[in-house]
Amino acid sequence: MAANGTVSAETLAEMAAYYRARAGEYDEWFERRGRYDQGPTANARWFAEAAKMLAALDALAMGGDVLELAPGTGIWTERLLRTAATLTAVDASPEMVAINRARVGEGRVRYVLADLFAWRPERAYDGVCFGFWLSHVPRERLDAFLETVAAALKPGGALFFVDSHSRREPTATSPDQRLPEAGAQLMTRRLNDGREYRIVKEFYDPALLAERCTAAGLDVTVRETPTYFLYGTGTRRG
Ligand SMILES: C[S@@+](CC[C@H](N)C(=O)[O-])C[C@H]1O[C@@H](n2cnc3c(N)ncnc32)[C@H](O)[C@@H]1O
Repeated sequence: MAANGTVSAETLAEMAAYYRARAGEYDEWFERRGRYDQGPTANARWFAEAAKMLAALDALAMGGDVLELAPGTGIWTERLLRTAATLTAVDASPEMVAINRARVGEGRVRYVLADLFAWRPERAYDGVCFGFWLSHVPRERLDAFLETVAAALKPGGALFFVDSHSRREPTATSPDQRLPEAGAQLMTRRLNDGREYRIVKEFYDPALLAERCTAAGLDVTVRETPTYFLYGTGTRRG
């Protein structure tokens, strides 16, 4: 953390390194395996709410040329490919991209290795999607990120994002990882082998997010499931 309370470039680099190192164990979190197994009741709630998220994305039926930011191992990539004609997927981690490529096995996907805090779109797309990326964007970079999203989306194009619920639900992660204190946007993440990294984890308020999207030229409805997820659907104003 820099002296003025903003997130330093070193911390953003540490977060990128964390995801590179975590790539091979990443899906344990979404699939509630290993350290992320929170028992049958919480797991069942997680899977039911996750299914709702996937259905919300499916309902948009994003066609044409779609952009996915921070695609990771491909949980959302494979759903997008049900309807997209082409997909451009931008992530900083070659390890994540390798897993994604193996999972979807698709010539229609163009992978771009880039730092999303510096990357700018070279064109506008028919749809833009990002899963569990927004909570890694520091508060002071949120407006700039949303402006990048607006620049990447054609007027009338479809936007979808999904992320962590604003209630900071402890069972969303593993019991050995403490969520940030209220007001803080950094936390320590641990790999299965015990290595630790500082990362950004901001739990955005849905109303604030909708307002910031509007300011960036995006009309977005932000909703939350009962326990685990926040999601936005919308478009870019013409
Ligand atoms: C929480 S994962 C989300 C993956 C996937 N979208 C999902 O929902 O499962 C965050 C992703 O952001 C990527 N990432 C981290 N820092 C990045 C950066 N500075 N630029 C681009 N991608 C970054 C990681 O490699 C990782 O794939």
